[in-house]
Amino acid sequence: MAAETTVPLDTRPRIHLEKVAKSFDGRVVVDVDDLVLGNHPIEGLIGPNGAGKTTLMRLIMHSTRLDRGRVALHPDGPESPPIVLSEMPTHHMAHHGLVKTNQVIMDFEKLTILDSLLLSVARSKDERPHRLFNEDEVYERRAEDIRAYLERFGFPDPLGYARSAGEKKLLDIIRCLLLAPRVLLLDEPAAGLPEDVRDRMMDVVKEKSASDGMSVVIVEHDLEVVWSLSEYVHFMAEGRVILQGDPEEIRQHDTVIEKYLGSEHAGS
Ligand SMILES: Nc1ncnc2c1ncn2[C@@H]1O[C@H](COP(=O)(O)OP(=O)(O)OP(=O)(O)O)[C@@H](O)[C@H]1O
Ligand SMILES: [Mg+2]
Repeated sequence: MAAETTVPLDTRPRIHLEKVAKSFDGRVVVDVDDLVLGNHPIEGLIGPNGAGKTTLMRLIMHSTRLDRGRVALHPDGPESPPIVLSEMPTHHMAHHGLVKTNQVIMDFEKLTILDSLLLSVARSKDERPHRLFNEDEVYERRAEDIRAYLERFGFPDPLGYARSAGEKKLLDIIRCLLLAPRVLLLDEPAAGLPEDVRDRMMDVVKEKSASDGMSVVIVEHDLEVVWSLSEYVHFMAEGRVILQGDPEEIRQHDTVIEKYLGSEHAGS
């Protein structure tokens, strides 16, 4: 079911990709003429392996260079003046409210769970080394939020270390959520998560989208996540977004069934 929307849609951020292309080794892997993400609070981006979904997200974050085209963020609705993301370094994205989780696990080996979460909310505005990570200040400011996440996801020992792939994946998502993004790009957030944790993760995403106006784009092969969270779905194959529509429409579309789902996944 769709999240209840308490933030007016038209002031939510939009991401606009125009004539964006990327090739690797002479092979076109993304070729998007005109795509708007964020017209709905939670959108899915699906497609077969190698369709270009991760590359598309990386192009938005400018962690992969575009061959051509432009990606812009309209921060306060579709008519608001654009911020051109494709001219900006990746580390400026969070400052504009744009945050992405990672398909491939990114975690710390030698930081405790708590420290890794505290570090993610440290402010880097003061660059003197001893001030860069002002532990007391960070703790005072964010400990409560962090504790709430740890309790909600049942981390028994925050002073211990993340061991399993699922825990590491979840911590990456929590670190992103702690940044209170305006737009959250989730690249296969459910991969490696046990079902109950996956469901709790989905609940948090739904809640944040409704209460804080966070817009979400989810890439996921676990289609239960896509069908139950998204209000709108973009279908990508061979580098192009070839279909867009309601989850139900996309799920039953012949092209999606043929290129991706197979007949057993369509329907109920
Ligand atoms: N850095 C790279 N160098 C060369 N080829 C790449 C690179 N990154 C991606 N590719 C290729 O680009 C294509 C699209 O990859 P991408 O990871 O975007 O697909 P995807 O839709 O995210 O797939 P999956 O569902 O398996 O995660 C693939 O053929 C992949 O091998
Ligand atoms: Mg991918």
